[in-house]
Amino acid sequence: MTEFGDVLAGRRSVRRFRPEPVPRDVLMKILAAGSWAPSPTNRQGWEFAAVYSDSLKKEMADAARGAWDDACAKAGGISGTVSEYAGNFVWFADAPVVIVVSARRPEGFMQSLFGGDAGTVSGSGTAAAMAAQNIMLAAHAEGIGTCCLTGPLAAGDRLKKIAGVGGRFEIVCLVALGYPAETPAAPERKPVDDYTRIIDDER
Ligand SMILES: Cc1cc2nc3c(=O)[nH]c(=O)nc-3n(C[C@H](O)[C@H](O)[C@H](O)COP(=O)(O)O)c2cc1C
Repeated sequence: MTEFGDVLAGRRSVRRFRPEPVPRDVLMKILAAGSWAPSPTNRQGWEFAAVYSDSLKKEMADAARGAWDDACAKAGGISGTVSEYAGNFVWFADAPVVIVVSARRPEGFMQSLFGGDAGTVSGSGTAAAMAAQNIMLAAHAEGIGTCCLTGPLAAGDRLKKIAGVGGRFEIVCLVALGYPAETPAAPERKPVDDYTRIIDDER
């Protein structure tokens, strides 16, 4: 577990990047690591859109800001806090690459069998999140920083249009990616006993 454990524990969410571009071949190698994630019946029902375009990244961040502004307008007394918080969801415009990670929607028959639970049962979103983690770890192993974001999905439909995500897919997260300009300290982790229950026959 040592070397692998070091890679796992050493990955940090990076939010400030050096301006140098991420070469396409390096990016493709990192994205290929996504394919080693497990998926239901190995369907690999994910799709990655790697956005290098500065204007599209800005459009995406503006859409996220707009969605959060709308939410703030509805938030009444807490709108100031929410508005401040929204800064966490727009900084990705300055990342060299933003990967839009999407998952195939459940098939119609799954929806008729399981209704609102179809997505959970079909597992495509879960698998795509696992692929995203593979991507983040592979990037880290290459000396490239990443940060997963879901806050911008407040503008999910707009982001789908901007990134050209097809109607059969839903965005699961964004992954901002580039050469790190910061070395964040590791946020503390809960001890394993705090979030684990062992269920055995012995009481
Ligand atoms: C599903 C998910 C959504 C996240 N969304 C955001 C986000 O919208 N904005 C952001 O700046 N960071 C986001 N993060 C990064 C977390 O803040 C970060 O993972 C956490 O603070 C732990 O830090 P570490 O990744 O360096 O260990 C997200 C992480 C995950 C896994």
